[in-house]
Amino acid sequence: MKIGWLPGDGIGIEVLEAARIVLDAVKFDADYVNGDIGWEFWKREGDALPKRTLGVLSNVDAAMFGAITSKPASVANNELDSHLKGKQYTYRSPIVRMRQIFDLYTCLRPCKAYSGNDLNFNDKIDITVFRENTEGLYAGVEFNPIPSELSELLLKISQSYSKFDGVNDLSMSCKITSRKGSYKIAKAAFEYAKLTGKNSVTAVHKANVVRATDGMFLDEVRRASEEYPEISLSEANIDALCMWLLKNPLNYQVLVAPNLYGDVVSDLCAQMVGGLGFACSGNIGKSLAVFEPTHGSAPKYAGQYKVNPIATILAAKMMLIWLGETEKADKIEEAVAHVIKDGKVKTYDMGGNDNTLEMAKAISEAI
Ligand code: NAI
Ligand code: MG
Repeated sequence: MKIGWLPGDGIGIEVLEAARIVLDAVKFDADYVNGDIGWEFWKREGDALPKRTLGVLSNVDAAMFGAITSKPASVANNELDSHLKGKQYTYRSPIVRMRQIFDLYTCLRPCKAYSGNDLNFNDKIDITVFRENTEGLYAGVEFNPIPSELSELLLKISQSYSKFDGVNDLSMSCKITSRKGSYKIAKAAFEYAKLTGKNSVTAVHKANVVRATDGMFLDEVRRASEEYPEISLSEANIDALCMWLLKNPLNYQVLVAPNLYGDVVSDLCAQMVGGLGFACSGNIGKSLAVFEPTHGSAPKYAGQYKVNPIATILAAKMMLIWLGETEKADKIEEAVAHVIKDGKVKTYDMGGNDNTLEMAKAISEAI
């Protein structure tokens, strides 16, 4: 098998190194092909996802990705290397671009409590988030300032926009929702529920206010649900859901959400099962899938080999399932569960002093 290997920035590099130790321990036979992504490439080349990396991703069976550091809003082109200065480079998140270019429309985020983890809200939590991964507020249709054609249109729609101080006073991020995209993520969620024996799916929305886009999203979730009469569909407003999740997490099995709500709610679910050090994620399309920890590059810990690699090791487990290597995937999950329950090796977030590679070694030894 050919596996794309995209460490990225900061702790992304360290957690991928840890995941590789565990993939080697289960004797996963792969050619790893390195791919460049992230802040360093933005600074050097004006592109955080260079074309050669797209070439790598087009030619692999699956990929593992660490994390990137995003361009801080305050940084202008002056962070670019001198040979790039003076030119116009527009920064767009390389992760969002990767998801869109390869149509990785499902973001799958399992949040499962492993027993013995003191950080769990409840040892029985097992919630899987299906986040639409290419549309919504992350579609990349944004204006600041907005073009005059758009401001004229806004004024035609409502005179209330006249209170703003011209186009320079307005910014706009468009939420783009398609029927097809909404149906595809809903179908993926129901199919997963069916395959894993879950009996309920909850659609996350705010359709009472965001009527056009979330309304369409809900319509399509309802349409997909008709194909699964054995699985019950409930619908929850994103704000109320956050409250109910904290109060009664065991009432939820599978959540399906538009892009931004899915991003937010999956961090909430992650914290209930130990935090970002345990939260894994898959960006899944028809012919390619890219697996990663949910967390970012945690610059304050970069280079220290301090953070918890379990999220990334569980992402590697997800990759093995997607590739049909279920036995190896089970071995990894059992070893992770064992090390957590055993409680002898703990990274800082678990209240211990062991480092990233010591955790990976302990998991490997439990295989
Ligand atoms: P972050 O997820 O990088 O870190 C937030 C905090 O979570 C850390 O300071 C640390 O306390 C904890 N944490 C994260 N990973 C951990 C781990 N494996 N073990 C233990 N604790 C862990 O989020 P932050 O600080 O908001 O963003 C840092 C950079 O990462 C930004 O540039 C951001 O845009 C980027 N980012 C990238 C993502 C990606 O590559 N998928 C996702 C989220 C943020
Ligand atoms: Mg996030």
